[in-house]
Amino acid sequence: MSKHLTHTKDLNKEEILQIFSMAREYLDEKKREDLKGKLIINIFFENSTRTRSSFEIAAKRLSADVVNLDVAKSSTSKGETLFDTAANLDAMGPDAIIVRHHRSGVPKILSKYVRASIINAGDGAHQHPTQGLLDLFTLIEVFGDLEGKKIAIVGDIRNSRVANSDIELLTRFKAKVLLVGPPHFLPKTPLPKTYSLKEAIEFADAIISLRTQTERHKHPTFASLKDYAQNFKITKELIKDKNIYIMHPGPVHRNIDIDDEVLADKRSLVLRQVKNGVAVRMAILKHLIREQ
Ligand code: CP
Repeated sequence: MSKHLTHTKDLNKEEILQIFSMAREYLDEKKREDLKGKLIINIFFENSTRTRSSFEIAAKRLSADVVNLDVAKSSTSKGETLFDTAANLDAMGPDAIIVRHHRSGVPKILSKYVRASIINAGDGAHQHPTQGLLDLFTLIEVFGDLEGKKIAIVGDIRNSRVANSDIELLTRFKAKVLLVGPPHFLPKTPLPKTYSLKEAIEFADAIISLRTQTERHKHPTFASLKDYAQNFKITKELIKDKNIYIMHPGPVHRNIDIDDEVLADKRSLVLRQVKNGVAVRMAILKHLIREQ
């Protein structure tokens, strides 16, 4: 087994199911002592609301000590390289370092130079394995076995690390994945694709909507997000009374990706994903750290 989690492929199916079994117990939100005496460092070179706080809460619920490095106030601003930052933090003896970085591949490279477990909290447009795992966990929670379940992923898939992690896991668990978006948001892949949200809604048992990743666009892709929303916003009018679940990793562009009414609808799993995220990250921390 890998001591790092830089890509969803670092975990085999059996390990994922073990992690999910542990996560189900952690859903009770009780404090435990499973990682008492362990040290976890969060380094986020990109902004985050959910992932950073979710990892911090997960670590604290397991009684680990947590250090959140404030990158804006760190010696990165004095010219220290990423590798020196990681090597110096590693020298302080953490059991895990959780890294988010705007460049793809940074967590993987760091994992070769440190003693601690590296956990990828999102690297560029490459991977967001813990988001992929919490999405998979949430879908298994509502559907049970995913074999043959139809999942449409809607939005800026080409620039989305969440989409990469979701696609790898969903196809491994034998779900049928449909990619939906304008042509310039769709990646080159053999997976089925459509430009029609209406068609996707007819097809899907669940939809994962994604934010337009404007920070990764070299050129503007739409005159405005409202133009994008005209074709790809999930509305009550579109989903009607269909038995369908709506997911989003956040942050949601409200009334661009999904309208207010759908977000408030009982078919929306958006906040359930967030709740599940803490339990899944607790289980991931336990899985990676206990083996050291
Ligand atoms: N889903 C997700 O990665 O959200 P944050 O950017 O807020 O961490």
